[in-house]
Amino acid sequence: MNKILTAYFSRKGQNYWKGEIRDLEKGNTEIVAEYIREAVGGDLFEIRTVKEYAKEYRACCAEAHRELQGGVRPALKECPADLDGYDIIFVGYPNWCGTMPMAVAAFLEKYDLGGKKIIPFCTNEGSGMGRSEEDLKRICVDAQVLKGLSVRGSEAAASRDAVVRWAQEAVKICKR
Ligand SMILES: Cc1cc2nc3c(=O)[nH]c(=O)nc-3n(C[C@H](O)[C@H](O)[C@H](O)COP(=O)(O)O)c2cc1C
Repeated sequence: MNKILTAYFSRKGQNYWKGEIRDLEKGNTEIVAEYIREAVGGDLFEIRTVKEYAKEYRACCAEAHRELQGGVRPALKECPADLDGYDIIFVGYPNWCGTMPMAVAAFLEKYDLGGKKIIPFCTNEGSGMGRSEEDLKRICVDAQVLKGLSVRGSEAAASRDAVVRWAQEAVKICKR
């Protein structure tokens, strides 16, 4: 049996949205994560930091940049003790400064991911996956990292059909 986990980081609050700053009640990555969970079943887990990031867009960019430059691993709120029961793990995040937020690295580094299939998805405002896939491969050395999906954040809500198709196909590939 292939048990599936969709783990994601997503931030509500001010964000860049089609060239302007908007206040998002629900994060873009969270929307996509829920579509994936709906499409393939399994469990959904939100990666949350103990200290929340600034709601204000520019302040958050400065925080994210500081963490990236310093290789910081922020403290996380409660996480699963292990991921032993899961064979397939969708990992979702916004593109922050060209890669995944450091909270996602902190989450993945907690676990032995040997033999697991990791499927990334990333919402962004134009930079696609950035270098997050290479960074993921460096962190998840013993896992197989499959090709990820990039979704424009401002189109997350409208992306359901494409996300469902991609997620179901990705699971099929994992089971081959
Ligand atoms: C701190 C920060 C850094 C960002 N850096 C980038 C970037 O380098 N490239 C990009 O295309 N979008 C960037 N964005 C936009 C987000 O990736 C995009 O809005 C994403 O959909 C937000 O997802 P969320 O609502 O799940 O947090 C950044 C946003 C924030 C808050």
